[in-house]
Amino acid sequence: MNVRELISGLSSERILHTQGVVETVNKLAMVYEFSLDKAVVAAYLHDYTREMPAEDLLMYAKQFSIPITRVDSYLPLLLHGQVAAVLLRKQGLTDEEILDAISWHTTGKENMAILTKIIYLADYIEPNRSFKGVREAREIAFAGDLNKAILFAIEQSMQYLISQGMLIHERTVRARNELLMIGRVSFGEQESRD
Ligand SMILES: [Fe+2]
Ligand SMILES: [Fe+2]
Repeated sequence: MNVRELISGLSSERILHTQGVVETVNKLAMVYEFSLDKAVVAAYLHDYTREMPAEDLLMYAKQFSIPITRVDSYLPLLLHGQVAAVLLRKQGLTDEEILDAISWHTTGKENMAILTKIIYLADYIEPNRSFKGVREAREIAFAGDLNKAILFAIEQSMQYLISQGMLIHERTVRARNELLMIGRVSFGEQESRD
């Protein structure tokens, strides 16, 4: 399987983003002591179907029995991770950690594996990103607390979605809740409001 060949059909803008994710993953894999070889493959392939038309993403999702939530049907783009993982598996990619990271890089999910978190983060902070708050997100990402970094990225992207009046996928909400619950010692117990 030639990863560069697989993504050769992507636009130059997407390739630039992908290279940024690869570059970031190189650093994150070192900080979080994860296999660089695996992380780089996941980084190269994470947006394999990012430029696929919405109707094709929905068609593949139905064909492969990927559950389509109401939010997915409004925003089929959110399915690009899961569709990519199924298509890549059919082409011989069998590493479950890599496939998991590709599947969930778009929304996050509960109990993310280390590589899934690394790809989610790298996608968010790669050097071509220029949104407000990206510098702080980068500082936290490289500081060594992966859960803290991913919670920051999830909350910041949620705040952006809310400010734009956009939908938030329920999987992302569950990811945030879980991170808050496992981090309750450092984040403080939430007081009952009723
Ligand atoms: Fe993506
Ligand atoms: Fe991406």
